[in-house]
Amino acid sequence: MKWRAHPDDVLPLWVAEMDVPLAPPIAEALHRAVDLGDTGYPYGSAYAEALAEFARERWRWDGVRIERTAVVPDVMMGIVEVLRLITEPGDAVVVCSPVYPPFYAFVTHDSRKIVEAPLGPDLRVDLDALEAAFVRARSQGRRAAFLMSNPHNPTGVVHTRDELQAIARLARKHDVRVISDEIHAPLVLPGAVFTPFLSIEGSENGFALTSASKAWNLAGLKAALVVAGPDAADDLRRLPEEVSHGPSHLGVIAHTAAFREGGIWLDELLRGLDANRTLLGQLIAEHLPEARYHRPEGTYLAWLDCSWLGLHDDRQRDELGVVSDVAGPAKMFLDRARVALSSGHVFGSGGAGCVRLNFATSPAILRQALSRMGRAVRDLDGLPDLDG
Ligand SMILES: Cc1ncc(COP(=O)(O)O)c(C=O)c1O
Repeated sequence: MKWRAHPDDVLPLWVAEMDVPLAPPIAEALHRAVDLGDTGYPYGSAYAEALAEFARERWRWDGVRIERTAVVPDVMMGIVEVLRLITEPGDAVVVCSPVYPPFYAFVTHDSRKIVEAPLGPDLRVDLDALEAAFVRARSQGRRAAFLMSNPHNPTGVVHTRDELQAIARLARKHDVRVISDEIHAPLVLPGAVFTPFLSIEGSENGFALTSASKAWNLAGLKAALVVAGPDAADDLRRLPEEVSHGPSHLGVIAHTAAFREGGIWLDELLRGLDANRTLLGQLIAEHLPEARYHRPEGTYLAWLDCSWLGLHDDRQRDELGVVSDVAGPAKMFLDRARVALSSGHVFGSGGAGCVRLNFATSPAILRQALSRMGRAVRDLDGLPDLDG
């Protein structure tokens, strides 16, 4: 999608895909399956076993129990299915805005309503705002869930053990079920430590969603895992059998190879992303010094506050009334710098005026993109207001 959605002169730094060659052990596993004609339905627990081993080695966490896992088509469909187990239509789902836009779309499409708990000015979870949102979500005595991005997309914040502990305590206090989306967990960069939510005391009735798709660039090979805490096992048993028909067998093979044999490739990737993160910091200081930028601790996503530009971010609608995905600074950078970024306004409250930049690309492309963006901003001076 990344390199197809825009014309050739656009540098695509938007959707969460990486410009990397496939990890050799994954390619070999897929080649083997194709050579064998092994292209039927998925079966077995290899994916969950590979995750369990990876979690023990990388996160020093021995908490993945195969009988408390289920393979689902992808993380977002897994989230929807878990929400169906623990909430009903009309119930509230709390999210920390700004956050990954499908958290809004998938949740509301399934007739749950969103209650926002905006992040603090440091872009970390604001526990007071979270508690207020829990109270609001539960105000009519209805069930409620907290859908958390751990690490957080789009800010790259990696929640600390203390933060997760406080979140678990609040969730217990207000009887809110936690769903921790841990798709970016293997992508924690030097300086930060990933903590699985289900390793936290008080998380026992929570769920985690995991997948190899972000860290090994496998979004086209559909598969993901739900992991239930011990007190959520009965809920998971109610997962309808047909959900297991969604994942792709080749997806399961690829994701299993990633967790089992993709460690060396991942380490090399993380070194490259760390170097790109440093380069990006330098390029922002050089070309967009006015942008407010918090160095991400994980993911390959950077969140740039460009509100100094003063570009309106009001949701623009097309002739059918459909809200445009690209507005404000992202639209300006697309039009004038030919750089495609994710537009902040679709990430919910606090997103307008910001852009999300995907730095999982070559240093050369990063340099070119930031240089073009800087030039576009300088050229704006003296030109009429884009939205005027
Ligand atoms: C936080 C988060 N959750 C879920 C997804 C999508 O995962 P999937 O394609 O497995 O639904 C993404 C993709 O970028 C993401 O950033």
